[in-house]
Amino acid sequence: MIKHLLFAPGPRTKGLATSLMSASLLLASAAATADNPALPTQIVDLANKVDGVHPGYRAFHAKGVVVEGTFKASAEAAQLSSAALFSGSTIPVTARFSDGNGVPTTPDGGAAMPRGIAIKYHLPGGADTDMVTNSFKFFPVGTGEDFRDLLTAISETTPDQPHPNKIEQFMGSHPQAPKALGTLGVPDSFADEEYHGVDAFIFVNKSGQRQAVRYLIEPEKVVHITADEAAKQTPNYLFDDLSKRLAKKPVVFHLKVQLAAPGDQTKDASLPWPDDRKVVDLGVLKITRIVPNSPEAEKKLLFLPTNLPAGIELSDDPLPSLRSAAYGVSYGRRSQAQ
Ligand code: HEM
Repeated sequence: MIKHLLFAPGPRTKGLATSLMSASLLLASAAATADNPALPTQIVDLANKVDGVHPGYRAFHAKGVVVEGTFKASAEAAQLSSAALFSGSTIPVTARFSDGNGVPTTPDGGAAMPRGIAIKYHLPGGADTDMVTNSFKFFPVGTGEDFRDLLTAISETTPDQPHPNKIEQFMGSHPQAPKALGTLGVPDSFADEEYHGVDAFIFVNKSGQRQAVRYLIEPEKVVHITADEAAKQTPNYLFDDLSKRLAKKPVVFHLKVQLAAPGDQTKDASLPWPDDRKVVDLGVLKITRIVPNSPEAEKKLLFLPTNLPAGIELSDDPLPSLRSAAYGVSYGRRSQAQ
């Protein structure tokens, strides 16, 4: 169970511009992880050790489907951030739903959490910005080093080890990790799951006011099934369900943010803010169809948590830059395998 728990552009391909932008973002992420440049590669190596090497596939969230749709911001959104994303005009999006581990054939009802949705918003003028979220309410760890150590503990845990085994020792010394795992459920559909940005970002509005936020992508209803029900599902039930639903009507989510109150920390993604913090509805995300060549499209797609427009900035949370650097390593390897 624990072993599998963690764990570039589609039809609107823009070619050189996007790859140059991704390259500069990856360089920026590498600079941000300069104090431990080997860490992103160490993490991707450990992901491959835990889930095996699958050429052409992502080291995490290997099983996915590419969809298209639109986003339309609410009036409140522009009061919080000057980002073009929140202008109120209808913004086309390319997104990818996914299971969490690095196994491209993982059964959806098995150890395939967290589920993910990564979104690329295609802004007026040709640029795009990304949001990469999953179904953890908060993350098991707050640093890349702890994430590496968690993967190491998973890779070194064997059934015959005396208790506490490696992973139990890690969970014992990182109390937020089992709590974070406890927030995960098995959805009946990608459309009935709630996704979280987990990391804190800073919204900057036209008057220069700065507000720390964490994303929440809320479905019309959250539906989780029991482990017994999950075990009875067909291996691709989430993907089959999604195409059935989209054949009938769009799948709708509300993009929201939780606002930090003065004094709330932003550095550690494993420490959630209290539930009483204000939540603002930023607008409606409507998923309308699965792209015709999804397996091909997902190979070219790279979503980077640091691909931010003016009006949205990184906080002191170290994970987004570390993540982008690791995503770059995984993207590089899966691009070579094609
Ligand atoms: C230390 C923290 C993390 C590391 C090292 C990490 C690493 C990775 C890697 C290597 C990939 C494959 C990227 C690719 O080949 O394009 C990936 C994909 C993904 N990760 Fe993370 N991740 C981390 C934290 C998170 C968090 C906090 C979230 C969500 C809040 C998240 C959500 C996702 C999603 C949704 C994908 C699939 C993206 C796609 O569809 O292309 N990850 N992660």
